[in-house]
Amino acid sequence: MESTSIDPTTWETLKVAAVAAMEKAYAPYSNFKVGAAALTTDGRLISGCNVENAAYGVTLCAECSMIGELFATGGGKLRAFYCVDASGSAIMPCGRCRQLLSEHRGENMELMTPRGVRSMDQVLPDAFGPHNL
Ligand code: THU
Repeated sequence: MESTSIDPTTWETLKVAAVAAMEKAYAPYSNFKVGAAALTTDGRLISGCNVENAAYGVTLCAECSMIGELFATGGGKLRAFYCVDASGSAIMPCGRCRQLLSEHRGENMELMTPRGVRSMDQVLPDAFGPHNL
């Protein structure tokens, strides 16, 4: 079934939620706070922030804590995603987090990026996934 694209009001709601999450980030090492927010296919709004660690490699990206909230609030799939830096500008999710988002994408999931709205296939073409196992 073809779903209609995400409207500007919903993008604004996601941005506001991402900024609120970003403000809670723990990023004393990089000083690069990130907030992520998503709308699920059943209409929930979830968010997350990056949580760094003195052992740098243990750092959790904002998307990781957001996916934790996805499951803590009932699971499901993502319909739209937005992540921001400290200035509130959209940033691209890192490669690892594109893989994370890909696992939990709903049909026609849309991502806000610095260059506008993109599909998961556009930001992670030919993704490895459950179909490979
Ligand atoms: N970061 C995220 O939270 N998500 C991304 O997609 C990119 C990077 C965080 C990790 C680290 O705390 C900081 O940004 C600098 O890399």
